Amino acid sequence: MSFAPWSKDAALVVLATLRDEEGPVLLALQALQREFGYVDKEAVGLVADYFNKSRADVHGVLTFYHDLLTSAPGDNQISVCVAEACQAVGSRDLEKQVKAKFGDEVHDGYCYGNCALGPSAMVNGCIIGRASLDKIAKARR
Ligand code: FES
Repeated sequence: MSFAPWSKDAALVVLATLRDEEGPVLLALQALQREFGYVDKEAVGLVADYFNKSRADVHGVLTFYHDLLTSAPGDNQISVCVAEACQAVGSRDLEKQVKAKFGDEVHDGYCYGNCALGPSAMVNGCIIGRASLDKIAKARR
């Protein structure tokens, strides 16, 4: 997956597509992440100003949703679900193994709706059920 390089002008074009949306902050942050692969720290002020919200409002949304990334992703994006159902079947141990092996590629994950097949992981947008270190390694690019 390739993303456009972050720029304020390109971000304003993305925000303009959401001008008439209600509750646009989350939609804006998601749209920026789709465009650039992450939400640049400059986007907090940009979104706040564009939609007449406080920076605290935007920062709150950005930090509440763990799927929103605040730094550019690497070649692989990996997350292991650490919500309750997956924790009950060992996701915390799996997460430690995955972070030890793949480090910066790993982000927190919270329920992909695949609870019955936990522990669940996501690699580059694909959900893996009954995840293991081996399955995650094979799913990487
Ligand atoms: S709790 Fe892990 S996928 Fe739902």
